Amino acid sequence: MSDVILECQNISQQFQDGKTIISVLNQINFSIEHGQSVAIMGASGAGKSTLLQLLGGLDNPTSGRVLLKGNDFSKVNQKQRGLLRNKYLGFIYQFHHLLPEFSALENVMMPLLIAKLPKKQAKQKAMSLLIEVGLENRVKHRPAQLSGGERQRTAIARAMVTNPACILADEPTGNLDETTAKVITDLMLGLNKKHNNGMIVVTHDKSLAAKMQKIYELTGGKLVLQ
Ligand SMILES: Nc1ncnc2c1ncn2[C@@H]1O[C@H](COP(=O)(O)OP(=O)(O)O)[C@@H](O)[C@H]1O
Ligand SMILES: [Mg+2]
Repeated sequence: MSDVILECQNISQQFQDGKTIISVLNQINFSIEHGQSVAIMGASGAGKSTLLQLLGGLDNPTSGRVLLKGNDFSKVNQKQRGLLRNKYLGFIYQFHHLLPEFSALENVMMPLLIAKLPKKQAKQKAMSLLIEVGLENRVKHRPAQLSGGERQRTAIARAMVTNPACILADEPTGNLDETTAKVITDLMLGLNKKHNNGMIVVTHDKSLAAKMQKIYELTGGKLVLQ
């Protein structure tokens, strides 16, 4: 069986801006397997977030298709898409997107509760991830009571708690100082190694990109291997 987790075939994305059509992605082919880590770099506005949205099934390409574990996103309904995402993918963003009214523990439990895991098991798993990211003493804190780095650790724990086949991260260190960014980078890579998932990281951070197995640059709507 193929080890491919996520692949896109000839995807293009265009947006309409009044009367003009902006072509952002142009016939991109890409795939990722278990244990692989990939950085996607590129100028602001190059289409990196657009590509990640398509890979995550959060938007539909103008043409081409995206397959997650062999499932074509365009052939499943919204509910099935959500289930596929919940089962196989973990998302990390520049801004943590944690739910402000819930504790770190509750935020990390959330994907498991959505996956219908019993509360007790969800709590145990979430706790073990929070320990892995070094937040065992912060589990009851709400996002506003955490530092930027701690919030991002919580977001990483939340993304990893379902043991996803692939992590999609959009500028995960973009909002952090250099020292904290390095800690977060090492943490993500350590977890990636340990859990053998795939990892796609969009970043401007050269030291983060350099730690990935492959670096692509998105330019002129094409992904170019560096
Ligand atoms: N939903 C949308 N509607 C119209 N234009 C969009 C939309 N999403 C992104 N764009 C445009 O696509 C281009 C690429 O955006 P984006 O993927 O966010 O770039 P990056 O993440 O590389 O900075 C930009 O010119 C942006 O304005
Ligand atoms: Mg972006």
